Amino acid sequence: MEERLQKILARCGAGSRRKAEEMIRNGRVAVDGAIVREMGVKLDLAEHEVTLDGRVVSLEEKKVYILLNKPKGYVTTLNDPQGRPVVTDLLKGVDFRVFPVGRLDLDTEGALILTNDGSLAQTVQHPSFEVNKTYVAQVAGSPSPEKLAELSRGIVIEGKKTFPASLKVIRAASRSTLIQITIHEGRKRQVRKMFAAIGHRVQELKRIAYGRLELGTLARGKFRYLSAKEIELIFP
Ligand code: URA
Repeated sequence: MEERLQKILARCGAGSRRKAEEMIRNGRVAVDGAIVREMGVKLDLAEHEVTLDGRVVSLEEKKVYILLNKPKGYVTTLNDPQGRPVVTDLLKGVDFRVFPVGRLDLDTEGALILTNDGSLAQTVQHPSFEVNKTYVAQVAGSPSPEKLAELSRGIVIEGKKTFPASLKVIRAASRSTLIQITIHEGRKRQVRKMFAAIGHRVQELKRIAYGRLELGTLARGKFRYLSAKEIELIFP
C-alpha cells in the first residue's frame, strides 16, 4: 500500500509526523539510495528501500498502545457497514494501524485499549490470562444482596455459567443502583446479560479499568498513549 513517506517514517519509529518531516527536510532520508527532500512523496515500503541516516527503515512497525475513553454512539470496529461513527474516528493524528482490544457495545462507554500489537491483544482477551475488566453499571431498581451474591458466584447466561465476579454497591437508591463489577471473561454484552438474569436492566455502563490500569480522568472521547509500565498494570 502506498503511503506518504513522513507517515511511514513516523510509524516505523522515527517519532511524530512533524519530526519525520524535519528529517526529510534536513536531507536525512533516502529512497532507493536517492535523498528525498520534498514532502508528499508516496511509496510502498514493501517495494522500496527507505533509509534514515543511512540505516534501512524496518518494515517492523513500532508497537503502540492507546487508551481511549470511548463515548456512547461509537462502534468498536474499524469499519461499520452501516456507516456509524467508529472508535478509530476519535484517534486524530495517530498514524498507526491500531485495532481495539476487545469490544464495548455501542451504548457502553469508557476504557478501550487499541494497539497494533497482535500478541498483546490476544493475551488480554484470552480467558486463561484472567485479565480483570471493571465496570460501573447503573441498574434499574435495587438488587437484593442475595441476587448480587448470586451474580458474584456465577450465573447461567445462554446455557453457560459465568466465572465468579466481584461486585460492590457504590450508591443505592430505590429507582436505580450504581454497582461496580469486575469480571475476567469477555462474552458479548456480558454485564448487561448478567444483570438481566437477576431481573435488573443495565441503564448505563462504563468500563473503568483493565486490571489495575484505570481510565482515571481521561475525558470522554479523548485518548492517550500508554507506557510499557502501564501495560504491565493490565495483567494480574
Ligand atoms: N459487558 C457489556 O454488557 N457490554 C460491554 O460493552 C462490555 C461488557
